[in-house]
Amino acid sequence: MSSEEVSTVYGREEFKRVDVGAVMRDGHPDISDGDQLIVDLVAKKRESAGRPLSVIDVGSGSGVLSELIAQRLPDCRVIANEIAPNPARQARDRLAAHPRAEVFTDDFMDWKEPLDVIISWGSHHHLPHSHLQHARTLLEDGGVLILGDEFCPEYCTEDDVKRLKNADVIELGGGYLLAARDEIEAYRADGSVPEWSRVLEDRRRRTLWNWYKFVIDYAIERDHWPVAIAEMQITKDDMVTAFEEEHKLSPLIVEHELAVNGFEQVAKHVIGDRPAELQSFFIYEFLPANGAAVDSAGDR
Ligand SMILES: C[S@@+](CC[C@H](N)C(=O)[O-])C[C@H]1O[C@@H](n2cnc3c(N)ncnc32)[C@H](O)[C@@H]1O
Repeated sequence: MSSEEVSTVYGREEFKRVDVGAVMRDGHPDISDGDQLIVDLVAKKRESAGRPLSVIDVGSGSGVLSELIAQRLPDCRVIANEIAPNPARQARDRLAAHPRAEVFTDDFMDWKEPLDVIISWGSHHHLPHSHLQHARTLLEDGGVLILGDEFCPEYCTEDDVKRLKNADVIELGGGYLLAARDEIEAYRADGSVPEWSRVLEDRRRRTLWNWYKFVIDYAIERDHWPVAIAEMQITKDDMVTAFEEEHKLSPLIVEHELAVNGFEQVAKHVIGDRPAELQSFFIYEFLPANGAAVDSAGDR
């Protein structure tokens, strides 16, 4: 996503000298707990494989998680993949002491070698939709996609879920969720958006607002002003429906997105022992499903 440097909080001038990855582990809920869980999942995979693994950390930021994996599993090849120059530089410094670790600074879509583990931690909602199809082609037999993200806490109702289950394609149009081919065609033809999509987007924003208030209060209570200020900017970015680089969706929607892209969900872990409206971090394990993907949605 070439606009990442200029358009999201990670590329802004005031954060240029900040190791955002390190700071977030301190002042933001759930990220460190997620790190530990992901490292444990990769270690378990290493043990069951009985051989060193090739592991990529897509959108690694400054490489905090990549380093934790390299420390725990020194015989595994760990690739920190980051396109933004500043965090990529920080990742290179951080990983310098680990001989089996490296930094890949091109777009994930340009990575061509087979992999045992693809990790996307906090990156899914920043990546173009097409990265799922690419990930599928790279996974070795038995390879796993570990997808962890800060989602929007769940905002789908049972009726929404029924509608999603009937959809063999989903796509974002101007930030609105479209879950049928005729809806997608109508949006492309004249920009029209179904009422259901508008209602869903309104619920997404209200649910997110509640979550971001919690995150910002959490940071301020701990005197973590850089995190609080970054999160205020991220909140604004996420509230703008059409701003595609920061658009957190509900876990159920992302699960469906993975299914239509040919992935089988084998585990879902939630971070944070709190009521559902304050649970935003989920970590999934996905395997490529047998057979071809049903369909893919367009880029987002
Ligand atoms: C929220 S950050 C991820 C944080 C990081 N995983 C961590 O553990 O601290 C998302 C990152 O994805 C990177 N990114 C976005 N598009 C990418 C792409 N196509 N290939 C590789 N990295 C990408 C961004 O530059 C950004 O640093």
